[in-house]
Amino acid sequence: MNNKQIDNQTELINLLNDDAKYCWHPFTQAQTSPIPLLIEKAKGSYIYDYAGKAYLDAISSWWVNTHGHNHEYIIQAIQKQANNMAHVIFSGITHQPAIKLAKSLAHNLPQGLEHIFYTDNGSTAIEAALKMAIQYAYNKNQEAKNIFLAFEGAYHGDTFGAMSVGKTSGFYNPFKSWLFDVNFIEYPYINLDSDIEKLEVLEKSILDKLQNYLIAKHNQIAAFIFEPLVQGASGMRICRAGFLDKVIQIFQKYNIICIADEVMTGFGRTGKLFACEYLSNKPDIMCLSKGITGGNFPLGVAAANSKIYNAFLNNDVMQAFLHGHSYTANPIICAAALANLELFETNKNDIFNHINDISYTYKQELDLLIANLAKFNPDIKLINPRIIGSICAFEVNINQHSLNNNYGSNIGQLIRIAMLDKQVILRPLGNTIYLLPPYSITLQEIKEIFAKIYEALVDVLNNFNTADFVNKKDLF
Ligand SMILES: Cc1ncc(COP(=O)(O)O)c(C=O)c1O
Repeated sequence: MNNKQIDNQTELINLLNDDAKYCWHPFTQAQTSPIPLLIEKAKGSYIYDYAGKAYLDAISSWWVNTHGHNHEYIIQAIQKQANNMAHVIFSGITHQPAIKLAKSLAHNLPQGLEHIFYTDNGSTAIEAALKMAIQYAYNKNQEAKNIFLAFEGAYHGDTFGAMSVGKTSGFYNPFKSWLFDVNFIEYPYINLDSDIEKLEVLEKSILDKLQNYLIAKHNQIAAFIFEPLVQGASGMRICRAGFLDKVIQIFQKYNIICIADEVMTGFGRTGKLFACEYLSNKPDIMCLSKGITGGNFPLGVAAANSKIYNAFLNNDVMQAFLHGHSYTANPIICAAALANLELFETNKNDIFNHINDISYTYKQELDLLIANLAKFNPDIKLINPRIIGSICAFEVNINQHSLNNNYGSNIGQLIRIAMLDKQVILRPLGNTIYLLPPYSITLQEIKEIFAKIYEALVDVLNNFNTADFVNKKDLF
C-alpha cells in the first residue's frame, strides 16, 4: 500500500469515527447497527463508495429518486437557478420557479387540484393538509367536525398530526398518549395470489361498516386521509382501485374532505404519474413530496381544490391559512422540481412503457424465484407477492421463523446485509422485501437483483441457526 492510499484509508476511518460521534441517523439503533456505508458520489441507478465500488440503489434512496441520480438535466437547472437567486421570502414576494412549478403541477395533477401550497417535506405536506381540513371546518363554523379517519396500517410521516393519522403503523409507541384521536378503517390488501372472492366479501363488509358509521357520525368528520393504492411503510400493501373509489364516494356523499397522501406513490411509482389517476373519484387535497424533485432536494406540496381554497378567502386575515416555513418555495428546489416534471412530460411514453416493462420483468423473475426456492430450498418461502408499477414486494419465511414482521425483523436485516455484500441497496420493512428502483434501472439489472436475492436468501438460510445470528436480536 503506498502513502496516498494509507492517507485515504486514515481519512475514511476518521470520517466514520466522526459519523459515529456526531451524526444521529434516522430510524437507526446506533448501538447495534452496522457501520454505515460511506458514499462519495452517485450517478444513474448507482451510488459509489470512496474506492469506486458501485452499489445499485434498488430503493431510490428512500423512494425519492426518479430518473436516476445526478440527472444532467436536473443538475443543470439547479446550477442555472443557483447562479441567479438562491432564496427569497415567499410571503408578499413571488418568483418564476415557484410560479412555473405550481402551474405545471396544476396541469399534471387530477383536475381541480390547482392551488399549490409549498412545504418542505412529506410530513409537513401532511401537516398542512390536516390543518387545512381543520381550518376549513373552523372557517365554515362547523367546529363539531373534529375526527379524522384513516386506514389501519397507514404511515403519513413523523410530525405530530402525521403520527396521529398514522398511529396504527407501529412506529410511535413513545408518543401514543400525545396524539389526537383518529378512527381507523380496516385496509383490505391484495396480493398476486389472493382469493378474490374472499377479498370481495371483506371489501363489502368494510364498506358497509363505513356507511353505517357515517350515517351516525358524518357531521363530526373533518377529513379522511389515505395512501392511494399502496401503503408504503407498512410493507407496500396494495388495495384495489375499485374499493378505494367506493370509499371516497361514500365520503364525498357526505361532503367530507378526502386527502390523498401521494408522498410515496407520486411521480410514477404505480405506473401512472399519480396513483389517483387509477381512481374516478378525486381527492380535495393531495400531498406530494419525495419524487417531486427527482430525489435531489426536500420539497412538499399540499395541492387543494377550489372548494378548500375558497373557504380561506375573507377580509379577515384570521381566516387565512396562517401557516408556512422559512424556506417555502425555495427557488433552486422549485427549479429542480420543474426540471423533474419536464422530464416526465417530454419522455412520458418512454418512461411509462419502461415502468410497464419493469412490472412485467418483476412478474417473470418472481415466478422464477418462487419456483427455484420450492425446488432447491423449500425451507425458504416467499409469500404474498405483489407488484404495481415499479414496486414489487413479498414476505420471506424461513423455517419456523415465519411472521416476525416487526420493523427490526432479523430476517429482513440479514437479507439487507447479504444484499449489501452483493452491491445492491435494499431496506426491508420487517420481513417484507421490496424493490422500488429509479426508472433509470435496466431490465437486465432487475434480473440480476433477483438472482442476487436468491443467493442472499440461501446465505441467510445457511447462517440462520448460528449463534451469531441468534444473538443479533436488535439488528437494524
Ligand atoms: C406515504 C408517506 N407519507 C408521508 C411520508 C413522510 O415524508 P417525509 O419522510 O418526507 O417527511 C412518507 C415517508 O416515507 C410516506 O411514505
